[in-house]
Amino acid sequence: MKAEITPQEYVAFKSFLQDACGILLGENKQYLVKSRLRRILEENNLNTLGELLERLRRSGRGGLREVVIDAMTTNETLWFRDNHPFRILQEKLLPEFAERKSNQPLRIWSAACSTGQEPYSIAMIVEEFRRTKPGKLRDVKITATDISKSVLEVARKGEYEMLAIGRGLSPERQKQFFTPSLNGGWQIKPQIKSMVEFKELNLLERYMPGRFDIVMCRNVLIYFSADLKKDILTRMNTALNPDGYLVLGASESLNGLPHLYEMVQCHPGIIYRKK
Ligand SMILES: C[S@@+](CC[C@H](N)C(=O)[O-])C[C@H]1O[C@@H](n2cnc3c(N)ncnc32)[C@H](O)[C@@H]1O
Repeated sequence: MKAEITPQEYVAFKSFLQDACGILLGENKQYLVKSRLRRILEENNLNTLGELLERLRRSGRGGLREVVIDAMTTNETLWFRDNHPFRILQEKLLPEFAERKSNQPLRIWSAACSTGQEPYSIAMIVEEFRRTKPGKLRDVKITATDISKSVLEVARKGEYEMLAIGRGLSPERQKQFFTPSLNGGWQIKPQIKSMVEFKELNLLERYMPGRFDIVMCRNVLIYFSADLKKDILTRMNTALNPDGYLVLGASESLNGLPHLYEMVQCHPGIIYRKK
């Protein structure tokens, strides 16, 4: 970006981003916008943020718009992130559903799944549970969604570099659930991969990708306004089966909506049951 971002350009870009994907930029994040969009401007021969906005206005959906959203989203993730949700899944939720649903299907949604570590971690916990309780929870499907095409591409491949593998995955699980790939990375095994289905989905859309027993929506609502967060959690409530559970990120909480969700303390960790 050759020129500095003007206050007008910044306001216009903030509003573009909020309308496109819900992300609410803070007051002084010009440096972030600049660093994340620098390459896109260069590749498109654009000099200013204003020129990019003009191009976005003319090009409509798809193409450049997706690339910009991709660049502005934070895709940080790791295996078994925060541990508690996965321990709660292992010790409370899966035993409860195995009892309650017996041989009926169990459906889990990882909303904002990034490069796949979250849904694949869920699948590993399910596989470990099945080994201790043969015959239980035979029909489990994890629907994993994200707005970003590029993270979904990585997730669908299920192949990770050593650096990514090292973040949160124990050597035992690495050995059990991955095989070394030809180019020095690690490929997730088919028994885990086949449990997960990836789909592109913008959480701003009203469409819900099915009905679920468990929804994990972690570390994405923090980027949205309070009203949008409420709206999404209200819609997720309608996508939950009776007595289904919502799992949020470690630093996130449900402010409001006491008529829709009941807080369940898991010592440590909190989840929410649909009312
Ligand atoms: C920080 S990652 C969280 C990944 C994972 N849930 C975790 O906790 O490790 C946030 C993800 O939210 C996605 N995201 C941002 N805005 C979104 C939207 N409007 N709809 C769907 N996904 C979105 C980003 O593409 C990114 O992959």
